[in-house]
Amino acid sequence: MKILFVSGEVYPLAKTGGLADVVGALPKAFRSLGDEARVMLPGYPEAMAKVTDVRAPLPLADAMGYGSARIVPARMPDSNLEVFLVDCPEAFARPGGPYQDADGRDWPDNPRRFALLSRAAALMGVGGGLAGWQPDIVHAHDWQTGLVPVYLRQWGGRTAGSVFTIHNLHYQGVFPPAVLGEVGADPALYHVDALEYWGNVSLLKAGLVFADYLTTVSPTYAREIQTEGFGYGLDGVVRARAATLRGILNGIDQEIWNPAADPAIAQPYSAADVSGKARCKAALQAAAGLLPDAGAPLLGLLGRLVWQKGIDIVLGALPEIVDMGFQVVIQGAGEPGLEARCREAAAVFAGKVSAHIGYDETFAHVIEAGADMFAVPSRFEPCGLTQMYALRYGTLPVVRRTGGLADSVADVDESPDGTGFVFDGETPADFLAALIRARELYDRPAAWAEVRARGMTKDFTWRAAAVRYREVYESVLRARRG
Ligand code: ADP
Ligand code: GLC
Repeated sequence: MKILFVSGEVYPLAKTGGLADVVGALPKAFRSLGDEARVMLPGYPEAMAKVTDVRAPLPLADAMGYGSARIVPARMPDSNLEVFLVDCPEAFARPGGPYQDADGRDWPDNPRRFALLSRAAALMGVGGGLAGWQPDIVHAHDWQTGLVPVYLRQWGGRTAGSVFTIHNLHYQGVFPPAVLGEVGADPALYHVDALEYWGNVSLLKAGLVFADYLTTVSPTYAREIQTEGFGYGLDGVVRARAATLRGILNGIDQEIWNPAADPAIAQPYSAADVSGKARCKAALQAAAGLLPDAGAPLLGLLGRLVWQKGIDIVLGALPEIVDMGFQVVIQGAGEPGLEARCREAAAVFAGKVSAHIGYDETFAHVIEAGADMFAVPSRFEPCGLTQMYALRYGTLPVVRRTGGLADSVADVDESPDGTGFVFDGETPADFLAALIRARELYDRPAAWAEVRARGMTKDFTWRAAAVRYREVYESVLRARRG
């Protein structure tokens, strides 16, 4: 089977969050199943600079109003994976991130930028494909690629099937109706059963309505998004697709996130010999400006500083947490208000609380390895990867019972196979109660070691997910054959 993944970010070429990790890792897992997956993303300058084996570009006839555009075939630097970059400097060669300028403002032409990407991907799926390669399935990810199934349907004929994965239903790609014309979509799609969304157009809705099959990144989130509380206005659309919606838990890249061979950490360690973890903790304390204290339980937090992640839930309990003898290290970037609160906390509790504001891939590994416990207090979490990295690094997760957190961490007091601590509710007191339980176990080293070993040896490889995605692709192809 031939599959084309299309996404606004792919690790290690461009990354703002877990989406990049997923699209960077999942395609590789298809190799062992005998299938061929390739990836397409925008030709951001850093991505263009990182790829290898760059070959002759294929011109794109319609550059979506930009000067000119072409598809550049190349390979990923770290695997041999084939990648297609949509090279259009006017759209993608800009200072800042994939979606925003350096000041955190969305690029005003985002619909057109990602329509260009989506159309390039859809073009590969029609009429024999491009460069002698036509995927059987185009697998699109999040709102940026919501137009992929729309273009495929619009063009018709014997096109590739489409699968659309919801990584986060909260980001809906909402724009004024005029964008329909800009992106070359049929004006008749401005309709409540198509792209229209409260007087605007939603590119996420485009994917939800028109893809042959929908998936999301955990079974629990697949159920949650059919309810009003998690649907953010789109739960009805999701419910209407329930028969062709499946929740498939993400895996993790166990080569990149491997404490036994991680160049970023102070000393390698494994489930069989965890002794190196103590040095990693000391190294983290030193690097984060925390007091050197082998005995103090060290709690790590890492992620985008946005409402979703519930960082404020932990900040609200900080005085009590510090009182209990904990040290806390936070790394994140995002909303200025939350960044300021983290900095303030670090100033108030100097030596006990450390805030590393910014994006730092290497230090993320240092935290995962050096902390004893890892908090993910998210209000909602489609899957979440950091708690799985924590498990692999022998760092016990304390998570809210939602989405993929509920599907990847079992509570030690609820299950004989427990690997962490799970809490309900969303107040500082709810979090604190779970942390108190964590502290109690931490004070019983033998029991702690047993739980830690269980987490470290859990299988979060991508293979299981790839098998499930393959079933989805097969059912799409069967349905298309009629
Ligand atoms: P989301 O995609 O919602 O941000 P995930 O848990 O799925 O959440 O993935 C987040 C990814 O981004 C992880 O790989 C995590 O290590 C990384 N990450 C988030 N914030 C930072 C940061 N400030 N510095 C380095 N890595 C980060
Ligand atoms: C989204 C979600 C996160 C998930 C990631 C990868 O960014 O917020 O929970 O792990 O996508 O699927």
